[in-house]
Amino acid sequence: MIRKFALTAAAVLALSGNVAQAAEGESHIEDVSFSFEGPFGTFDQMQLQRGLQVYTEVCAACHGMRYVPIRTLSDATGPGIPEDQVRAYAEEFPLNDELANPQLFDRETEEYRALKPTDHFPANEMQGAPDLSLMAKARAGFHGPYGTGLSQLFNGMGGPEYITAILTGYTGEEKEEAGTLFYENTAFPGGWISMAPPLHGDDVEYADGHSASVHNEAEDISAFLMWAAEPKMMDRKATGFMAVIFLTVLTVLLYATNKRLWKPVKKAAKEA
Ligand code: HEC
Repeated sequence: MIRKFALTAAAVLALSGNVAQAAEGESHIEDVSFSFEGPFGTFDQMQLQRGLQVYTEVCAACHGMRYVPIRTLSDATGPGIPEDQVRAYAEEFPLNDELANPQLFDRETEEYRALKPTDHFPANEMQGAPDLSLMAKARAGFHGPYGTGLSQLFNGMGGPEYITAILTGYTGEEKEEAGTLFYENTAFPGGWISMAPPLHGDDVEYADGHSASVHNEAEDISAFLMWAAEPKMMDRKATGFMAVIFLTVLTVLLYATNKRLWKPVKKAAKEA
């Protein structure tokens, strides 16, 4: 009986494994050990600032970030940029897809006004580039094994890893289909993405002297996008930790109370 059950289970696992692998295609995503992983992980402020630089100087040309308020760049648990610098940053932000941002149109002067910290990052969908505000939470880098989701339980969803893998996964092959150029990418489902390789190394010059290799830039922008998608992650973890401590103490107290309450009853039962 047990043997029959084990055989059936093995057959089911083998089958579902095949299905899961077929669904995943060939996409290949490497684990990256980001500073914000695990129950005590925190964002690396310098990395967030470098990622913001990559976003501003490279990705913002095509991708908007319309759900992220610019003022949050000065959050202490975020990039932590001083408020006057955030103001200057907002004023200098290049606006190149103004039509998607009617809120910036000043009817009196009939001109587009510069951004203010109270604004959100502008929308921008050049050539069909998706908004990046929630991208790090909208994609999963890890799957399986065999459709169980165990990998995600241990490694996290892998959103930032997916973004890093997309940015570093170009093979250099191109093809044209129906007038659109596609680039072969080992991380993109289906293997062909219409985004030209955005990073080539040394695309930005980091103020902190960090090397701007493609891989470093990719990790920095991925960490930044994780913060953009979940700016309260550190608060959430701190609250969760306090809740676990609180519940542990409460459990001990309730156990002791329970013992004490029933003690006379048990004693009476024994004597009877
Ligand atoms: C020249 C314009 C352009 C630039 C610059 C650009 N992208 Fe893209 N990006 C696109 C387009 C177009 C797509 C849609 C690709 C597709 O669906 O085939 C895209 C898609 C994406 C996706 C989504 C992939 C998915 O799973 O759907 C991510 C993530 C991404 N870009 C990140 C970035 C990052 C990070 C940068 C900056 C380092 C960047 N992009 C720079 C045009 C651009």
